[in-house]
Amino acid sequence: MKMSRALILTVVAVIGLAVMGSGLFAADVPDVIEMKDPIYDKHTRGIVSFTHTKHYADYGISCGECHHDDKGQPLADLKLGDSVHRCSECHTKPGDVPRAALKDLAEDAKTKLTLEYQAGAMHANCIGCHRDWNREHGKRGPEGAPASCNDCHPKE
Ligand code: HEC
Ligand code: HEC
Ligand code: HEC
Ligand code: HEC
Repeated sequence: MKMSRALILTVVAVIGLAVMGSGLFAADVPDVIEMKDPIYDKHTRGIVSFTHTKHYADYGISCGECHHDDKGQPLADLKLGDSVHRCSECHTKPGDVPRAALKDLAEDAKTKLTLEYQAGAMHANCIGCHRDWNREHGKRGPEGAPASCNDCHPKE
């Protein structure tokens, strides 16, 4: 028996959903997320406590500023109760981009390579916004939004 094209497409879609489904993680979000991604065997820096609820509720940041789809487009319709994919499912390399690897690259190639790394993508998101916010509000260092290593990664 020959499978119809429609059936093959359905089978592919079902497998696709099953794979994606396994990557979704809890819709039941804690107010503070201990940032300890399982791609790391061992963290080299103190574990960051990320005040997830405060960021959208108190600082008024929309979900789509941080959560996006597989093309990098903001998930504008994301709402509480929905599941999300871990950042590391797409920004898959552990750690931050090695400085030496960026040498001699053009700006956009640097950005692209940096975003392959989980910590590279995380830092671009978190520190990128914090720097802008501090600049706009005339704040620096610990009084503003944290932008230096030990402000986020507690010393062990
Ligand atoms: C300032 C950035 C930011 C904003 C705003 C934000 N999130 Fe998140 N969210 C994150 C990060 C970072 C994680 C952790 C992802 C990871 O570890 O890969 C996360 C995790 C989650 C998780 C999984 C948590 C778990 O532990 O199971 C859900 C669900 C979620 N966010 C939904 C939302 C929704 C809904 C909104 C808007 C109401 C929102 N987020 C706003 C950055 C943000
Ligand atoms: C489903 C795949 C996927 C997931 C999950 C994902 N990203 Fe991305 N991300 C992308 C793609 C694709 C781009 C665009 C890359 C490009 O333009 O080269 C991108 C771009 C980015 C950028 C640069 C552009 C921008 O929006 O500032 C940052 C920073 C980033 N992601 C951080 C994160 C963080 C933090 C998380 C988790 C909260 C996350 N990503 C989850 C796929 C993903
Ligand atoms: C789109 C903007 C934006 C993004 C993205 C963002 N933040 Fe923030 N963050 C803020 C603002 C605004 C404040 C409050 C600054 C103030 O009032 O001094 C803040 C404050 C903080 C603080 C100190 C106060 C608190 O709530 O604990 C921590 C820690 C922090 N952010 C961690 C993170 C981490 C980790 C990420 C990435 C996963 C992140 N932030 C992403 C805007 C952002
Ligand atoms: C705004 C908060 C913030 C700042 C500032 C920050 N980081 Fe991070 N960093 C994170 C988050 C969030 C992760 C992701 C951890 C995870 O999901 O497991 C991370 C991950 C990492 C990792 C990979 C995990 C590990 O522990 O080995 C390294 C290395 C790292 N950061 C180094 C640095 C260094 C060096 C600086 C200063 C130049 C810095 N970070 C500044 C938030 C921050």
